Amino acid sequence: MALVTMKELLDRAEEQGVAVGAFSVGNMEMVMGAVKAAEELETPIILQIAEVRLPHSPLELMGPMMLAAAENAAVDIAVHLDHGLHPETVAKALDIGFTSVMFDGSQLPLEKNIEIVKNIVHLVSDYDATVEAELGVVGGNEGEGKAHEVLCTNPADAVRFCDETGIDALAVAIGNAHGNYPVLPSLRFDVLEEIHKAVRVPLVLHGGTGITAEMFRRCISLGVRKINIATASFDSLAQYAKAYCDNKPEKPNYFELSACEVEGVYQNVKKHIEIFNMK
Ligand code: 13P
Repeated sequence: MALVTMKELLDRAEEQGVAVGAFSVGNMEMVMGAVKAAEELETPIILQIAEVRLPHSPLELMGPMMLAAAENAAVDIAVHLDHGLHPETVAKALDIGFTSVMFDGSQLPLEKNIEIVKNIVHLVSDYDATVEAELGVVGGNEGEGKAHEVLCTNPADAVRFCDETGIDALAVAIGNAHGNYPVLPSLRFDVLEEIHKAVRVPLVLHGGTGITAEMFRRCISLGVRKINIATASFDSLAQYAKAYCDNKPEKPNYFELSACEVEGVYQNVKKHIEIFNMK
């Protein structure tokens, strides 16, 4: 078992008709919790970090740790840059050894998005790595900035985007949003079905936090092969840490607190792996 490309895991997910979980991490405890769940369930996963998280969790520190975790795991793991916003960051992740990168040009006009993603695909061809890109606008926000309005992916544009760029995976916008949903999301399965029929590459669902198991399964039946989970893991870690500190207000212990952080992420990742059903 080893560090693998994301494409390898997406191909396996396609064969099995399931999805691979892509879990965002921001510190060592999150990496350990995610890997522990993957090993226990004997399931490959993707460890990822988004560019907006790098001011909190620098790439030079997180990258080598994520790669070391993958190399030493008892399951296959891909290490992915999520929502790369600058080609320089994508290049830096590739140089560190990431086996997958996403460039997010979803806020740009279609022509510009195609132009930059084409360049990214060209850059990545010098590495053994996978490219994900996004079309349409996923709601909410990965970081702390203003929330984006959802704009569903246009299936005809998706065909052109995939054909002209040569990407390996397409992140779609079907009413999904990053962060906690204020109300249960209403996903456009009709749009997803049209995209799935029209494009050949595996589809990626962002904004996994707050989506129900039933909705996940329906997305998987319509071609989603990678599902991103971030907020639910951050929240679970914070809740476990808070419960620990509330129980030990006099003298919290760093080592016990660290173990609680691992446990919080482990529980959340395990729950999602079981739904996504990858083996
Ligand atoms: P959530 O924070 O909603 O789980 O979204 C994760 C994600 O899509 C990361 O790119």
